[in-house]
Amino acid sequence: MEAVLSPVRTKEDLLFEDSLRPRNFKEFVGQETVKSNLKIFIEAARKRDEHLDHVLLYGPPGLGKTSLAYLIAKEMGVGIKPTSGPVIERTGDLSAILSNLQMKEILFLDEIHRLHPSVEEILYSAMEDFRLDIVIGQGPSARSHKLQLKKFTLIGATTRAGRITPPLRGRFGIIHRLDYYRKEDLKKIIKRSASILKVDIDDKGADQIAHRSRGTPRVANRLLRRVRDYADVKGEGKITGKEATNALDMMEVDILGLDEVDRKILMTIIENFSGGPVGINTIAAAIDEEKDTIESIYEPFLMRIGFLERTIRGRKVTKKAYSHLGLLSPPASQGKLFKDSQK
Ligand SMILES: Nc1ncnc2c1ncn2[C@@H]1O[C@H](COP(=O)(O)OP(=O)(O)O)[C@@H](O)[C@H]1O
Ligand SMILES: [Mg+2]
Repeated sequence: MEAVLSPVRTKEDLLFEDSLRPRNFKEFVGQETVKSNLKIFIEAARKRDEHLDHVLLYGPPGLGKTSLAYLIAKEMGVGIKPTSGPVIERTGDLSAILSNLQMKEILFLDEIHRLHPSVEEILYSAMEDFRLDIVIGQGPSARSHKLQLKKFTLIGATTRAGRITPPLRGRFGIIHRLDYYRKEDLKKIIKRSASILKVDIDDKGADQIAHRSRGTPRVANRLLRRVRDYADVKGEGKITGKEATNALDMMEVDILGLDEVDRKILMTIIENFSGGPVGINTIAAAIDEEKDTIESIYEPFLMRIGFLERTIRGRKVTKKAYSHLGLLSPPASQGKLFKDSQK
């Protein structure tokens, strides 16, 4: 089955993402603390007619980082230039982008943790003093030039806050973490998206979809589209609780929103390591996934629903997970240590 529950953006999501993106803070559901803080900073900057302090947004994929960046630009009444860490290959590329920014304009740097170190380095003085130190030429004839930049705002987004180096992190004045959404908030998002997509949905229908969306607006929107397709073909076009349940069951969407990789992680720990504790490197090797991906995308969700525990000795599957997977409680051997093998 394709990854209908993956929080990572698919090509199909891309087609809808723009139309479903919230257009103002009011439409941006939930994340109240983040929103109210940002509003204050934005208002203050506007009053002083100054640029907004640099903003770092982090959290699992699909929770609204990119949407927020665009909203900030809109509320500030300034332009936004989007780019992303891995796209910027050379320092010259970033210098060119920075020197073209207008006063107060926003540079949105997605996946900022994937910046090349030498590229990252030129951000330091750019963020702090709005200055670029450029070296032209090589060897003894090399000359260093200082270039004054306009006072811009950098908005960085990342799924891996732990991978942001301290000097970079220290240059952000505003740092916020986005968290998984509560069911009520997801329902609001689903209902709003339904009205944009012109889909008829009732409260119970939205409830069913919200329940299986793994706390993630991107997944909620995707499930809504799938259920709509199902309702168009099999039903009367209206998404009721029953209709949604049938559709989601037919698509084999887990009732808690667990996807293939989540299951693989849990089953591997259970089958190969007696439920853990087991080190993250060992899990990554066993299921052939990047350790980073597990730590930034899957583990936070599994911990949030109480299926995985992080102990000093490694990751451990909980009783709750066993029962959801229809398995008997952890075997007596749980507790035996499986250490990451030395690499
Ligand atoms: N708070 C929110 N309210 C309404 N819709 C949201 C919210 N957060 C995210 N979305 C929806 O989810 C989709 C993915 O959000 P996005 O900002 O691209 O997430 P991220 O950049 O964190 O991966 C967007 O297209 C938007 O429609
Ligand atoms: Mg994004």
